Amino acid sequence: MEQSTKQKRIFSAVQPSGNLTLGNYLGALKNWADLQDQFECIYCVADLHAITVRQEPAVLRKKSLDTLALYLACGIDPKKATFFLQSHIPEHTQLSWVLGCNTMFGELSRMTQFKDKSQKHADNINAGLFTYPVLMAADILLYQADLVPVGSDQKQHIELTRDIATRFNNSYSPTFTVPEAYILKSSARIMSLAEPERKMSKSDPNANASIFMLDRKDDIIRKFKRAVTDSEAVVAADPARLGIYNLVNIYSSLTGKSAEEIEREFEGKGYGDFKIAVGEACADVLAPVQKEFDLLTRDKAYLDGILREGTEKASCIARKTIQKVYRKVGFYLPNSK
Ligand code: TRP
Repeated sequence: MEQSTKQKRIFSAVQPSGNLTLGNYLGALKNWADLQDQFECIYCVADLHAITVRQEPAVLRKKSLDTLALYLACGIDPKKATFFLQSHIPEHTQLSWVLGCNTMFGELSRMTQFKDKSQKHADNINAGLFTYPVLMAADILLYQADLVPVGSDQKQHIELTRDIATRFNNSYSPTFTVPEAYILKSSARIMSLAEPERKMSKSDPNANASIFMLDRKDDIIRKFKRAVTDSEAVVAADPARLGIYNLVNIYSSLTGKSAEEIEREFEGKGYGDFKIAVGEACADVLAPVQKEFDLLTRDKAYLDGILREGTEKASCIARKTIQKVYRKVGFYLPNSK
């Protein structure tokens, strides 16, 4: 068992387009650290994807390194996992072009994230936003990944990646591993505190809607206190009562307690006590991550070193795949001496 899972390769990425949230932590980063012992893990900071919406250059640059530091602060070990920035490996864009020529306009038009983002950024519906899923497919297929841990909002992109890989393999002979989405049981969907029908998002303009991984304790508690609930004042994991359901989910993910245990713990108590408990649990979980983050970001040379090493390792795999792809589609390659 141990042996067979060890060989599987995991690829995942996070966009450095904002401050990572509690949703990113509980849904992604925390689980990624657990995966590194079972799988060969490659984790990428998707800076190329980030510019599909407008970014302030200096902020993007800082966020890219901060994102890497956060990965490390969450316990992802650079000796076990490979880290790099997407823009450092040109094969991502090279493969993206080839895959784009094997992806249909209609397929991309059906992507719900494209539709959502074009509504949200109506003044900047650029071609990159449209071809975003092709670049994401390139990220994954470049490394011949078996499994891709993602939130459920990215499932449609993984489906498309599978379709593109299968189509390419059928047209040109087997080239790509057809990857699978790896949806973790524990990655409960963490919803906005202000509008619990929406996912907690790092780009939400309402700062009270999201808990950020680097938020301080008093901000965390204040945000939970203000979280939207209802007038029933009974702490219950009732999916019909979105706000309180979300808080129970968050508390459960933070503490490992089951929904029933939580309902029992807060029986007869109001939302006020519960919200403070959630806030405290959250601050306690994030405190060591924040401490480590502070140490890491003070050592830029160390982070640069990790990036250099990761880029080198990832490049070897990427180069092999792109050469294979270029040969298969009929690009002339001179013999290397
Ligand atoms: N689109 C993903 C997100 O916004 C980030 C991402 C980019 C990604 N490339 C990827 C995730 C490849 C998994 C695999 O969450």
